Amino acid sequence: MQELHDKRIVLGLSGGIACYKSAELVRRLIEQGATVDVVMTDAATHFITAVTMQALSGRPVFNDAWDPRIPNNMAHIDLSRGADVILIAPASADFMAKLAQGRADDLLSTLCLARACPLLVAPAMNREMWSAAPTQRNVAQLKHDGVSVLGPGSGQQACGETGDGRMLEALQILAELVAFFQPKLLQNKRVLITAGPTVEPIDPVRVITNRSSGKTGYALARAAFEAGAEVTLISGPTALPEPYGVPCIQVQTAQQMHEAVLSQIAGQDIFISVAAVADWRVTNVASDKIKKDPLAASSHTSNLEFSLNPDILATVAALPNAPWCVGFAAETERLSEFAQAKRLRKGIPMLIGNLAQHVMDAEHTTVSIFDEQGEHPLPTSAKQDVARMLIAAIAARLPQKT
Ligand code: C5P
Repeated sequence: MQELHDKRIVLGLSGGIACYKSAELVRRLIEQGATVDVVMTDAATHFITAVTMQALSGRPVFNDAWDPRIPNNMAHIDLSRGADVILIAPASADFMAKLAQGRADDLLSTLCLARACPLLVAPAMNREMWSAAPTQRNVAQLKHDGVSVLGPGSGQQACGETGDGRMLEALQILAELVAFFQPKLLQNKRVLITAGPTVEPIDPVRVITNRSSGKTGYALARAAFEAGAEVTLISGPTALPEPYGVPCIQVQTAQQMHEAVLSQIAGQDIFISVAAVADWRVTNVASDKIKKDPLAASSHTSNLEFSLNPDILATVAALPNAPWCVGFAAETERLSEFAQAKRLRKGIPMLIGNLAQHVMDAEHTTVSIFDEQGEHPLPTSAKQDVARMLIAAIAARLPQKT
């Protein structure tokens, strides 16, 4: 799935050591189907060559406002007109000052001023330059003018100091850009999502768990972030990277997940319970590894005792001022019947059901939405696309606050 298919991006580089990250960025943008025109300031050419950027983008790189390759000497108009977005990465303190003032004394600043498309900037500078009053004034002015400011990140800087001002990593900028093109269906909404399995210890080395990759829950967290929501993810153990822009609380057991959910639930508008929570936990957890040898001191072979875990979703749905709750059900048969029964039993307005056999750990999934109107099947699609369809379905059903 290419996330930037058919998008034309002007990638502007101003002078900063973070130009090395722009080389990877251009590759990532192209991998996602974008056409990328690179424009560099003179200062940027001291950090990375036009040849490098040309080889990576597969297109001519522009630097000079008087470039004879462009008909009519209208590089600033030509380059900005067909673009869906102009992204300046890295955006130096000096270049942002120029943008804030509306100056146009080189090709990149001129085409920013002449643009008819959105402008995004990814600042990159030393922490003192970033926190300096003039820079902060310029950032505020740019935001006021409708420019999107991505980051900056925090951490170790090329100069050896540590603080705010690092340019975001290529994958983080890509995530911001993909989000930029998604409709803001959940703007100003707070969304809590559980994902992955829970694991219930038997002894220090053995656990009981459910099969769950966490992919659907993580895809929903990403889709909700892209839709403009403030998202929190509570996750059991998975092999997945934490989604960009989503604070993540890692837990192991159902009881830890229950506690984490209750600690985060106040003020949430939506709760999406995707986690495959273990229904049972072992009450006689052994403090030492249980031995196979029946004569060993710590052997208690088959005598595990269980108690029922709390039903997190049903608990949340029954809270006073409960958020709008969405559940999940993976069944192996009679999906419609079981899913509707589960929705009613949990007291929730919407449940997503699927047949478990074919989708476990897969990249694609086939789901149906169950609500009080009945069953609404969605087309088989990549999990990220299904997640976006589900977020749109949730947004469409969400009651308007009075
Ligand atoms: O109860 P059952 O496992 O059949 O229902 C699945 C739905 O309930 C999922 O949304 C799952 O996240 C949620 N659930 C829960 N706490 C449990 C069991 C399931 O929140 N203990």
